[in-house]
Amino acid sequence: MKKLQAVLITGGAGYIGSHAVQEARTYGFEPVTYDNLSTGHAWAVKGSLLVKGELADRKKLSEAFKKFKPVAVMHFASHIAVGESVINPQKYYQDNLTNAMNLFSVMLERKVRYFILSSTAATYGDPLEVPIPETHPQVPVNPYGDSKWILERILAWYDKAYGLRSTFLRYFNAAGADASGKIGEVHDPETHLIPLVLDAAMGRRKEITVFGQDYPTPDGTCIRDYIHVTDLAGAHFLALKRMMETDKSDFFNLGTGKGFSVREVITRAEEVTGMKVPVRMGSRRAGDPPELVARADKAQEALGWQPRHSSLENILKTTWAWHRNYFGKKSAGRKNKRAGHS
Ligand SMILES: NC(=O)c1ccc[n+]([C@@H]2O[C@H](COP(=O)([O-])OP(=O)(O)OC[C@H]3O[C@@H](n4cnc5c(N)ncnc54)[C@H](O)[C@@H]3O)[C@@H](O)[C@H]2O)c1
Repeated sequence: MKKLQAVLITGGAGYIGSHAVQEARTYGFEPVTYDNLSTGHAWAVKGSLLVKGELADRKKLSEAFKKFKPVAVMHFASHIAVGESVINPQKYYQDNLTNAMNLFSVMLERKVRYFILSSTAATYGDPLEVPIPETHPQVPVNPYGDSKWILERILAWYDKAYGLRSTFLRYFNAAGADASGKIGEVHDPETHLIPLVLDAAMGRRKEITVFGQDYPTPDGTCIRDYIHVTDLAGAHFLALKRMMETDKSDFFNLGTGKGFSVREVITRAEEVTGMKVPVRMGSRRAGDPPELVARADKAQEALGWQPRHSSLENILKTTWAWHRNYFGKKSAGRKNKRAGHS
């Protein structure tokens, strides 16, 4: 049997990275996760290669490249919380930028020329038009988005100077879980709407706070474009194949082109779970644009990508299955311990 080409997946033990690891072989690649497990989980990459390592550790990184000879890198590892980045910008610039620079240096040393960046809709800042096309001005309004935009610009220069090809994938709101029910989103603290709503449905949290009901949207709450994590993962391999065929850098939005308001998500979550979601009304949060929806046709046309798992219903169903599987077992375990069972 033909040996699959290895791809180094930084942050492969995290939420989105683990779904890329899960999909890799379907697209003809062998995933090698490089992760310090700071927010990721070894169980999420069971059955594939895991190097427990820190991106700041250039020696270890270099050894991993030497040993596994990846043809490409998918870079998921980063700090990801917008709010935290405003309070502690140093953490975002220091780590997200210097770790990526380390990675680029080792790639150049080892002559690995294909790179996929987990970028974000946050690089666009407050949208001037919706749906947001890839050509929209990039004016990030927080250090998280800014750190990703800076990486995009660095990579554009590395392409010209060193021939390091890259694809920037600007995700909208990643959501959902693998259909197997074996991997899914576990962030601590969780900041994403859908897991928080399902936590409230399950009684893991008292209520969900809706930040702002006076936005210029049909029901007054913010609208976002939710993209299933399995679709996101697949897009990485389609983008990599295309980049390897064309030997050209490119950039794509990854969204569905359709938005749902916070209220709609809550109502649909109640339908899917059959549970009441307790809601508290809060005031607007600084920096939340009313509507973030992708213009999604470029990836579909150029990559032949279809977000076929991304109906809101499927996103909610798969997250709910994952939630009950993971958090249900955890709370049953806690109850058993309290009752004196082992
Ligand atoms: N979740 C979203 O909706 C969303 C939206 C846009 C972009 N993104 C981007 O997608 C990527 C993945 O997000 P996620 O939600 O899966 O995050 P996550 O926190 O679940 O995963 C990040 C992984 O990187 C690892 N990691 C972090 N720092 C590291 C370091 N210094 N060395 C080695 N490993 C390290 C963590 O242990 C974790 O496994 C991030 O780059 C994020 O900015 C996410």
